[in-house]
Amino acid sequence: MKYKDPNCSVGERVEDLLARMTLEEKVAQCVQIYIPPEGREEILARIRKTGLGSRILSAVPLGGSVTQRTAGIADLNEVQRIAVEESRLGIPILSGMDVIHGQHTVFPIPLAMAAAFDPAALEQASAIAAAETASMGIHWTFAPMMDIARDPRWGRIIEGYGEDPYLGAQMAAAAVRGFQGELDEKGYARPGRVLACAKHYVGYGAAEGGRDYNTGEITDHTLRNIYLPPFKAAVQAGVGTVMSAFHDLNGEPASGSRYLLTDILKDEFGFEGFIVSDWASVGELVNHRVVAGERDAAALAFDAGLDMEMISECYTHHLAELVQAGEISTQRLDDAVRRVLAVKFRLGLFERPYADTDRQLEQLPLDEYRAASRRAAARGMVLLKNNGLLPLKPDARRVAVIGPYAHERRTMLGSWVNDILADEPGTLADALRAALPEAQILTAPSGLYDEMLMAAAEADVVVLALGESHARNGEYNCVASIELPAGQQALFDALAGLGKPLAVVVYTGRPVALTRIAPQADALLLAWHPGSLGAEATADVLLGAVNPGGKLPVSFPRGEGQIPVHYNHNSTGRFNPRYHDMPVTPLFPFGFGLSYTRFAIDGLEVQPQAVQPGGRVRVSVTVTNIGERDGEEVVQCYLQDCVSRLTRPVRELKGFERVALQAGESRRVSFELGAEELSYYGPGGRWVLEPGEFKVWVGSDSNASLEGSFRVV
Ligand code: GLC
Repeated sequence: MKYKDPNCSVGERVEDLLARMTLEEKVAQCVQIYIPPEGREEILARIRKTGLGSRILSAVPLGGSVTQRTAGIADLNEVQRIAVEESRLGIPILSGMDVIHGQHTVFPIPLAMAAAFDPAALEQASAIAAAETASMGIHWTFAPMMDIARDPRWGRIIEGYGEDPYLGAQMAAAAVRGFQGELDEKGYARPGRVLACAKHYVGYGAAEGGRDYNTGEITDHTLRNIYLPPFKAAVQAGVGTVMSAFHDLNGEPASGSRYLLTDILKDEFGFEGFIVSDWASVGELVNHRVVAGERDAAALAFDAGLDMEMISECYTHHLAELVQAGEISTQRLDDAVRRVLAVKFRLGLFERPYADTDRQLEQLPLDEYRAASRRAAARGMVLLKNNGLLPLKPDARRVAVIGPYAHERRTMLGSWVNDILADEPGTLADALRAALPEAQILTAPSGLYDEMLMAAAEADVVVLALGESHARNGEYNCVASIELPAGQQALFDALAGLGKPLAVVVYTGRPVALTRIAPQADALLLAWHPGSLGAEATADVLLGAVNPGGKLPVSFPRGEGQIPVHYNHNSTGRFNPRYHDMPVTPLFPFGFGLSYTRFAIDGLEVQPQAVQPGGRVRVSVTVTNIGERDGEEVVQCYLQDCVSRLTRPVRELKGFERVALQAGESRRVSFELGAEELSYYGPGGRWVLEPGEFKVWVGSDSNASLEGSFRVV
C-alpha cells in the first residue's frame, strides 16, 4: 500500500490513502476534539471505527489563562496505538496544544521577544519550544500568534509582535522556521520539530474597544497593508496550519468567510496546509446569528474553506449528511482531507506515530535552554529612562527591593504556560541578593506598603518592582484603563517623596501608562513578563552584566484616551491634530529604547538616487558606539511614499538590524529596498509601485530624523 511507503511522494501517499477512505473516515479527519477522562471509552470506540483527525490537549477554552496539565506520553501513546493499530486504515492522530512562548523552559512573552528586534533569537526560542514539546509526544503547537495589535486594552497584545506589519512579518516567519525547521530531502519534518499554526486569521487585534472577541471593521486597504503581511510571511515560510479567528470582520465571522479563508489565504497566498477553527468558533457562528443552527454552521464554515473544526463537532454531526445531500461537494471534502493527510505525512506521523520515550524532556540540554531564555529575556528588556543610576554600582551597600512584584514568581511566566510548575521562576529579590552578595538587601515580603516605605527609608538605593499580573492580560483579560493596577501609583508617589535614588522595573504584558512615573523615576526598565529566568535576567540588566538593547514593538500611550496612537498613521489633510488635555504623541514611541552606552548614526547614503520600478535601492549608514561600554543598537529604516494615489502612513518600518558594537567601534549598516518594500495594496485592489519620490529616515526609533530620498522613475 503506497500510503504506508515513505519512499513514495507525499502526493502519491495522499491519493492512495484518500481513495481507500469512506465518507465517515474522511469526515473524521476534519475533526479535532478533547478527550476527557469521562466518556473516554466512547471516544476510543469512535477512533477504532472511523479514526480521528486530531486531539487537542487543552481541557478548557481559556487555555492561556490557566495553568494546565496536558496528557502524558503514556496517554498519548495509548490513544495513538488504537488509531494506528485498531482502526481500519491506521491513520495517526495529530496531537496539538498551545505552546506560545515555551513549554517547559518558558521564554519571554512574544511581545518581549519582538522587543529584541532579533528574529534569529525568536527562531531559536521557537526551536527550543519545539524540541521540548516534541519530546512530550506532542506534534502541533497553535503558535505563532501574529495579530497586529494597536490597542493595549486588548489582553492578547501580549501574545503577538506588536503594532508594525514589517516587524510582525519578520517575527512570524522566524517563529515558523523555529517550530517547524527545514524539511528533509524527501519533504518530511525532522524529529524534534512541531507543526506550527499562524493565528488568529485575521484582524482579531482590531476588536472594537479593545474588548476580546469583539467586532472588527478593517478596510481592505488596511487589512492588506497592515494586518495580513505577517500571515503572508508565515505562509511563505511554509507554515503548515492557520487558525481562523473568533470575531466578525466587516460583517462576516472570520471562521465563515470564504473571502478570507479561500479567496485570500488559499487562492491568493497559495496556502497548501489546512485551516483549523479557533475553539468552537464554528459552533459559535450560531451566536453570531449568521446561521440558524449547527447544520448550517457546518455548511457555511466548511464551504468557506475551514478544513478542521476544533471542539464544537458541527462537522461530526452534519458534514457527512451535507455531502450526501449534495450541499457540500465531494471535491471540497477531498480537498480538506488531502490537506490534513499531507500535513500528517510531512510530519512523519505514519513513520513516527508514537512519542519517542527515550527522547524525553530530561534528555534535552535544559541548562542550555534556560541560559537561552535568560539571554532572550535580558535582550528584550527596554530601558525607557536612565539618569545614570543604572547599572547599579557593584559596591551598593543597602538596596531596597520592594513593590508588588519584588517577590512574585508566577507572573514572570506571563499568560499561556501549560505543563510548567508555576513556582519554578525565581524572584527579583532573590536574584538581586545573589547578584549583590556584599549588599544588604532590604525587602518587605509582607507586601505591606508601609513596610516597603520603611525598607526604602533605610536604603541607599531603591529598586521598585511594579507591573500587572499575568492574569490581567492574555485571552479574555482586557482592561478599560491602562493605568497601573490600583495602589501602585500611590506607592510610587510615596517612595518618590523619600528622595532616594529610585529605579523602577515594570513587569507587564501590555503597554501601561507610565506618565506619572517616568518624570520622577531615576531609571525605568520595562521587563515585560520575562519567562522562567526573568528575575535573573532583570538582575543582569540592573547590574550591567547585560547592556539593554530592546526597543518598543508597540507605542506606549500616555493614557487610554490616546488609543490608537500607533506611529504608522496616515498624513492628515489639515493641521496636526491636537487634544486640549494631552499631547497627541505617545509617552514612548515605537522603536524606542535606551542603552547604557550611546550610539551615533550618520553617513547616510541612498544609492541609486533614481531607480526603475523593478530595481533596488541601498540605504546605508554608519553606526558608532560613542560611549564607554559595549552595547547593541537596533538601527531602523523608515520609508515614506511621498505622493501616492491612496493615503499612506507618514512613515513605515522597512528594515532593521540589531548590531553589537564595542565601545568606540563603528560599522556600516545597509538596507535594501525593492518592489516588496516600495509597493502597497492600492487602487483597484492591486499591489502597486507608483513612480515618484520616496523619503527614508534611519535612526534608533520611529522618530528617526536622519533623512534621505530617492525617486522611482
Ligand atoms: C483559545 C485561543 C486560541 C487557542 C485555542 C486552543 O480560545 O483563542 O489561541 O489556540 O483556543 O487552546
